[in-house]
Amino acid sequence: MKAAVWQGKRDVQVTEVPDPAVKEPTDAVIRITSSGLCGSDLHLYEVLTPMMTPGDILGHEPMGVIEEVGTKVQGLKAGDRVVVPFQIACGSCFMCDQGLQTQCETTQVREQGMGAPLFGYTKLYGAVPGAQAEYLRVPQAQYGPVKIPEGPADDRFLFLSDVLPTAWQAVEYADVPKDGTLAVIGLGPIGDMACRIALHRGARKVIGIDLVPERLARTRARGVEVLDVTEHDDIGAAVRELTDGRGTDAVIDAVGMEAHGNVAGKVAQSVGGMLPGKLAEKALAKAGVDRLAAFQHAIDIVRRGGTISLSGLYGGAADPLPMMTLFDKQIQLRMGQANVKRWVPDILPLLTDEDVLGVDDFATHHLPLAQAPEAYEMFQKKADGAVKVVFKP
Ligand SMILES: NC(=O)c1ccc[n+]([C@@H]2O[C@H](COP(=O)([O-])OP(=O)(O)OC[C@H]3O[C@@H](n4cnc5c(N)ncnc54)[C@H](O)[C@@H]3O)[C@@H](O)[C@H]2O)c1
Ligand SMILES: [Zn+2]
Ligand SMILES: [Zn+2]
Repeated sequence: MKAAVWQGKRDVQVTEVPDPAVKEPTDAVIRITSSGLCGSDLHLYEVLTPMMTPGDILGHEPMGVIEEVGTKVQGLKAGDRVVVPFQIACGSCFMCDQGLQTQCETTQVREQGMGAPLFGYTKLYGAVPGAQAEYLRVPQAQYGPVKIPEGPADDRFLFLSDVLPTAWQAVEYADVPKDGTLAVIGLGPIGDMACRIALHRGARKVIGIDLVPERLARTRARGVEVLDVTEHDDIGAAVRELTDGRGTDAVIDAVGMEAHGNVAGKVAQSVGGMLPGKLAEKALAKAGVDRLAAFQHAIDIVRRGGTISLSGLYGGAADPLPMMTLFDKQIQLRMGQANVKRWVPDILPLLTDEDVLGVDDFATHHLPLAQAPEAYEMFQKKADGAVKVVFKP
């Protein structure tokens, strides 16, 4: 089959790889009909290069049709239409029972000290072949795949694999009080969808922050107040101005470790300024894995006693954190990979004909898998208005 394969830094190629097969009784193999390209894939494309192995198949946002199931997979049969969560969980352990599927104790990647494995996400997360391919082997298929009805186009359900539950969990963890205010930093697919969900769930004011004009415009069109981070020397002050001088009740960081720190001049400088020369050099050498610009903004923007919800991905351990401010402002902090199946029952009722979250035209690009190399480049550069790319293998 054909698959999008990582071959090196900023080098994705579509090549011929062996077809996957059912290996365990709990496996299924699906024929992919749609597969999302995620901001998380961009980390692999460039900054997480040391964790990649040439030949890794990318992608973790699949939907498709069951080809074959193992003997222990009940309730699914060849021909069923399914969407597949980006993490692999058993559904019946101590963690899964609490809705913490990303911490599944059956599947945890223990040799790396990590939680549940993810499709297409490096050796750190189990080196599981990914979903930007024609076919996918789905482990733990007795639990993972969500059966969906025939009829609507793929995009109605595709985002259940990642974007919707991630944005839902971000909003849930943000714990916005009734009629409260929320700032969302980063208006990629996750931040954009988090804004939509927060408004739907009754937040009084949602402030979206980014620097890409198309993304700001797209979010504004859905009733979000937007701020262009490049137009404000002090983004915290700009948010306080919109919130009675206090800051928002909650902040979602939907950027993660690849924040454009250079536009957040003040923050970047203050972080750099805390480090003596040698350390600053080391920190620079690790740049990308230890960039906290968005999180630093979040700490500044959130009101005293408020909540920061991190859905952006972070790595590294070298950056200094303003612990005194975090403590003094009495900030609540929640984070983590989304526990997909925990939120699916909450989200499914919104994926009806009314399409309240606007999933039907959420994707900006539908491209053949063969164009994966160009798509990665376009998405990384945020060129051509690309916000969400969906591959059609
Ligand atoms: N927690 C999870 O389960 C989960 C799931 C999916 C994605 N993610 C993570 O969520 C993050 C967002 O994903 P995405 O698909 O929306 O990616 P994306 O790269 O399209 O979005 C990031 C956005 O942040 C903006 N940005 C960069 N620096 C900024 C700054 N200093 N201030 C304001 N905005 C800034 C960028 O312009 C971009 O629009 C990524 O880190 C991704 O890895 C986490
Ligand atoms: Zn993703
Ligand atoms: Zn489990």
